[in-house]
Amino acid sequence: MLLDWENQLSVGNTTIDDQHKKLISLLNDLHAAMQQGKGKEIISKTLHDLVEYTDYHFGAEEELFHGTAYPGVEAHMVEHQNLIQTVSKLQDDYESGKVMISSETLVFLKNWVTNHIMKTDQGYKTFL
Ligand SMILES: [Fe+2]
Ligand SMILES: [Fe+2]
Repeated sequence: MLLDWENQLSVGNTTIDDQHKKLISLLNDLHAAMQQGKGKEIISKTLHDLVEYTDYHFGAEEELFHGTAYPGVEAHMVEHQNLIQTVSKLQDDYESGKVMISSETLVFLKNWVTNHIMKTDQGYKTFL
């Protein structure tokens, strides 16, 4: 397992917490697929699911904090856009054979998700 859910990741909202759990579980699926030496088709599919769900989650989160007094909306959305661009590019480059998915890639994703939930997402906690 690459990453485990911990209570300190909670933003105090069940819907968002559940989405974060799902995101972590998709990251773990990608990690497991790589560790088991799964083929390109399976890895591509896992990566695709991760990108798609991340995009869905970001949309849901933005919709939620848009209607509040949370002052960090714009900077938060920029962080979301940057990650979506990065993972979409990773997916394209992987599918076209330009890059391999390495353990560094997984560590990058893990750190990004953890930092984002622990710092940036925590910022809207009191505004929901
Ligand atoms: Fe989030
Ligand atoms: Fe976020």
